[in-house]
Amino acid sequence: MTWTPSPMPSATPNSPTPRIVLGVAGGIAAYKAVELLRLLREKGYHVAPVLTPDATRFVGLVTFSALASEPARTSLYGDPTTPIPHTYLGSNASLIVVAPATAHLIARYAMGLADDLLTATLLATRAPVLLCPAMHTEMWVQPSVQENLATLRRRGVLVLEPEVGPLAGGDVGTGRLPQPEKIAALIEKIVEGYRGALSGVRVLISAGGTREAIDPVRVLSNRSSGRQGYALADAACRMGATVTLVSTVERSLNLDTVSAIEVVPVESAAEMHEAMMKRALESECVIMAAAVADFAPRASSEKLKKRDGVPELHLERTPDILADLVAQRANGQIIVGFAAETTDVLANALEKLRDKDVDLLVVNDVAAPGVGFEHATNEVLLLSRHEEPERVSLRSKEAVAWEILARVAALLPQGAQ
Ligand code: C5P
Repeated sequence: MTWTPSPMPSATPNSPTPRIVLGVAGGIAAYKAVELLRLLREKGYHVAPVLTPDATRFVGLVTFSALASEPARTSLYGDPTTPIPHTYLGSNASLIVVAPATAHLIARYAMGLADDLLTATLLATRAPVLLCPAMHTEMWVQPSVQENLATLRRRGVLVLEPEVGPLAGGDVGTGRLPQPEKIAALIEKIVEGYRGALSGVRVLISAGGTREAIDPVRVLSNRSSGRQGYALADAACRMGATVTLVSTVERSLNLDTVSAIEVVPVESAAEMHEAMMKRALESECVIMAAAVADFAPRASSEKLKKRDGVPELHLERTPDILADLVAQRANGQIIVGFAAETTDVLANALEKLRDKDVDLLVVNDVAAPGVGFEHATNEVLLLSRHEEPERVSLRSKEAVAWEILARVAALLPQGAQ
């Protein structure tokens, strides 16, 4: 299974009843979606089925309507309950799952088409999306199908790989939809994983590269975009945390988190140090995702003039914020550090975990493609004292944030949430 991204749900994450949109595309495995629907209802979830027109050739709307929380839908038009069913479904969903997802549905979704209710709903949501592809092996191995899936994964879509087994028409191969129990268990993991996992926890996060003044107009900085830190702030907020983000960069937050997250703008390592140390005292979790300069020049109060020749910059050590946070760590507080490595990643990272005495070290292999600074994606190793190292494969920074915070939630002392 490839466990990719998660833009977290825009619907109220702590709502007592998760709302699942169950998309069904037109393949023979559509019959298994009936059982999946029943299992999801058994778990107490609100389930709204959306079938593509072709799916209704395999299974009936009546069957789905009888088992679901609201009538099964197939069309963008003529809905007696709402004139815009795709936005109603998309914005209220905790999760959208498409089972089975056909090659055609995958292609339409990857292209951003919205020519039926299901694809329009997929475009109208910020909830996590789980695709469960099912098709004949010949179709599954087509580069077009795999490239479309790769595109979707990159955008944060979760994909449950099909299994090997008997297919329609007596063939055997890869392409079989996993059993409904397996899909339902995965859905439960996704839905329950984010709901209130950090509720009542105060999380302090730093983001972006620090800017160290050379003179009133020039700075020394680095390529950090702040994207991972912002993704952490968004995800933590949706997991129920109270979030403060100390950042050197201004990026957009999601509509539903923007008013809940306190953003403290800073520029230099010294400013970030002051902002973090003060606020850390009242935080159960501190995450140093910022790329803090290790050295800074002593800033000239006047602009250095060209006519005075090439200046010599004398650099001095900046405060080690992480070390100072660890030194003043309160009982039970979880401190997360980041480390960028290029060689001997695991060995160096294990050494760093010991040296820095953090609870969780998030290690980037910045030499790998698509990883680290300026990318929308990341691939990390999660290291903590008593757990095996965990590799989080390449996925969106939002999805990486989700994985990091799931680890944080597990590390927090019982009762902190
Ligand atoms: O030792 P290294 O620079 O790899 O450590 C990186 C970690 O330390 C990051 O979490 C970063 O935010 C933090 N850091 C810090 N203060 C510094 C330099 C790095 O808190 N001056």
